[in-house]
Amino acid sequence: MDNRLTTNQGAPVGDNQNSRTAGRRGPTLLEDYHLLEKIAHFDRERIPERVVHARGAGAHGVFRVENSMKEYTKAAFLQEVGAETPVFVRFSTVIHGVGSPETARDPRGFATKFYTQEGNYDLVGNHLPVFFIRDAIKFPDMVHSLKPDPQTNIQNPGRYWDFMTLTPESTHMMTWLFSDHGTPANYREMDGFGVHSFKWINAEGKVTYVKYKWESLQGVRTLSASEVEQQQGKDFNHATRDLFDHIEKGEFPQWQLKVQFIEPADIDNYSFDPLDPTKVWPEEQFPFHVVGTMTLNKNPDNFFAEVEQSAFSPSAVVPGIEPSEDKLLQGRLFSYPDTQRHRLGPNYLQIPVNCPYAPVRNHQRDGLMNVNQDTSRYNYEPNSYTDGPVEDPAYSETEVELHGQVTRQKIEKTDDFTQAGEQYRSYNSAQKDNLLSNLVNDLQGVKKDIQLRAICNFIRADREYGMRLAQGLGVDINEFMSQLHS
Ligand code: HEM
Repeated sequence: MDNRLTTNQGAPVGDNQNSRTAGRRGPTLLEDYHLLEKIAHFDRERIPERVVHARGAGAHGVFRVENSMKEYTKAAFLQEVGAETPVFVRFSTVIHGVGSPETARDPRGFATKFYTQEGNYDLVGNHLPVFFIRDAIKFPDMVHSLKPDPQTNIQNPGRYWDFMTLTPESTHMMTWLFSDHGTPANYREMDGFGVHSFKWINAEGKVTYVKYKWESLQGVRTLSASEVEQQQGKDFNHATRDLFDHIEKGEFPQWQLKVQFIEPADIDNYSFDPLDPTKVWPEEQFPFHVVGTMTLNKNPDNFFAEVEQSAFSPSAVVPGIEPSEDKLLQGRLFSYPDTQRHRLGPNYLQIPVNCPYAPVRNHQRDGLMNVNQDTSRYNYEPNSYTDGPVEDPAYSETEVELHGQVTRQKIEKTDDFTQAGEQYRSYNSAQKDNLLSNLVNDLQGVKKDIQLRAICNFIRADREYGMRLAQGLGVDINEFMSQLHS
């Protein structure tokens, strides 16, 4: 009989319906291993959810190169036109818990794992091109302000607007987030952005700064505030459902990967700091180059195994790609593997969805849940007993020349408002109306001084923008200005 029910030890189970008791009415016996194992395992079914980006959906697919990137990077998977690399993608919302509605005004995560021949490369981006802050030291505060209030367990605009208005570099991101871009229709019809700049290094060692964009071939579709209300009443799992159903029907979503470049010698030649993640690199100035196309063509067989246990990190890079000096990115390099060792255990890279297709050879060993143990007796390097794995200097990272003092300082060109104003002016009148009404609805319950700080920041971005917000909130801006100057 090959469909025999067994314990996790593989022993056949004689009765899966009745606990073993001392007599018909007697108490249950501790010796009932099957019962204890079944309940004890059930008790441990939940793992900690991601501290951010808890709600998500994922799919497998393939990335195909359309233009060789050899001139800019030696990354093996980007060398040849037509080269295909398997990928796994997880989309997510950021702030709320694992079962929360997918209608929230929130950035959407767009994380891609490329299983390349030279190791896994993770591009862990969002659907908006900029971020709230530019230094990792502010991330826990930013997230705390956006997460539910510790007393009520309800998200509170009075908390996050307080933080955001005291953090003026967020003005650009808020101008994206409170437009209808903050509520994308689903995961298929949205773009993705790497947000940070990274370094690409070619075979000659030449470094180029690069920014990434995933352009949806389905187009971009957003929801207005009233469409969000309708959607939420009807089905708040719509984004997961939409992705799953389209892939199941064979209507595979696709994104084109595009990049922009800046030469290191030019990095100080712009009015803004190109390594600042609160800035875009304007397309007119920095044209996009097409790299290739990604197709998502397979749903996960099991959500927990593949989506919940997936682990992405901006520090998962391959030869030819390195992080830039962006201070937000630098903090992320530590944060992701750190949280994943806590969330999934120290051997999280042995879980199939995270396990590289490239061979793994090193002497890291032991630890909780190790299922792929290095069995060599000579588990150290160098050793004179075996011809075990050794380093290859061909894969050393680039060297960076540094001058100056160790310091704690803001970047030089903060320029918190110019691009926020440009973004506002790029919206058509309907988009501006929706942005303003979304802002007014959110800010109207917030205390006056926070409202005034918000108005101030938006005025500095664009006078009309801030004045319209003031009008919407019923603030007499002339009176406010005269108070400010008295
Ligand atoms: C998830 C930290 C900024 C995109 C996470 C997680 C942490 C984290 C701890 C949970 C990871 C896990 O449990 O597997 C940080 C820190 C940041 C930062 C410390 C700034 C210093 C950003 C930025 C982006 C981003 C700027 C977008 C460019 C994502 C995405 C996920 C994520 C997409 C979900 C990955 C997945 O689907 O598993 N972040 N984050 N984060 N973060 Fe960040």
